[in-house]
Amino acid sequence: MLVAPSILSADFGNLADDVRAICEGGCDLVHVDVMDGHFVPNLTIGPVVVSAVAKVATKPLDIHLMVENNSFFVDLFAPLKPEFISFHIEEEKHPHRLIQKIRGLGIRPAITLNPHTPPEAIEFLIADVDMVLLMSVNPGFGGQKFIASVLERATRLKALIMKRNPNCLIEVDGGVSDANIEALADAGVDVVVAGSFVYKHPKGVAVAIGALK
Ligand code: DX5
Ligand code: ZN
Repeated sequence: MLVAPSILSADFGNLADDVRAICEGGCDLVHVDVMDGHFVPNLTIGPVVVSAVAKVATKPLDIHLMVENNSFFVDLFAPLKPEFISFHIEEEKHPHRLIQKIRGLGIRPAITLNPHTPPEAIEFLIADVDMVLLMSVNPGFGGQKFIASVLERATRLKALIMKRNPNCLIEVDGGVSDANIEALADAGVDVVVAGSFVYKHPKGVAVAIGALK
């Protein structure tokens, strides 16, 4: 299982230290939640802060856009050379064109699905992306309760991936902890995002990451 801690739950007053801690603690990706106050009712960080994160991170960035006007935000973050940029299918009229754009910038494209969106909605995009991110909470905030129907969605998505693009990864984001990690692995999930479980773990971030792995 690859683990991508979400820095949304980090201490933004000590962000550099909190990014170093997850990288030294064995994470695989640094998950960055970009919210614009329009697509979701919360506002987070832009390229100025994320470039500071990129400077100290020794693991690749996984940028999760929760925004309107995806193409504009792709242009803002592309110079930081993230490993992945994911965008919400619910907010994109021309997902195939955007996927080509992201790949053309040398970044691995990923699509994100809200809790209500069935995996079948993106069947004909799976061949073109490197990862599908299934939300297991409503996007906007850390620390929410895990929505268990993601397990059925992951199982259905896995079947589509085996048919269309077996190398495509499945990522799950929201409410992930040691209580649901085995069920996620059984459902075929490859990458988990975890914010509060990692950053609020009483024994520290390295123990939390180790527990998920
Ligand atoms: C929610 C974000 C998540 C969030 C996860 O919109 O996409 O990445 O930070 O936090 P936890 O793990 O606390 O649910
Ligand atoms: Zn996220």
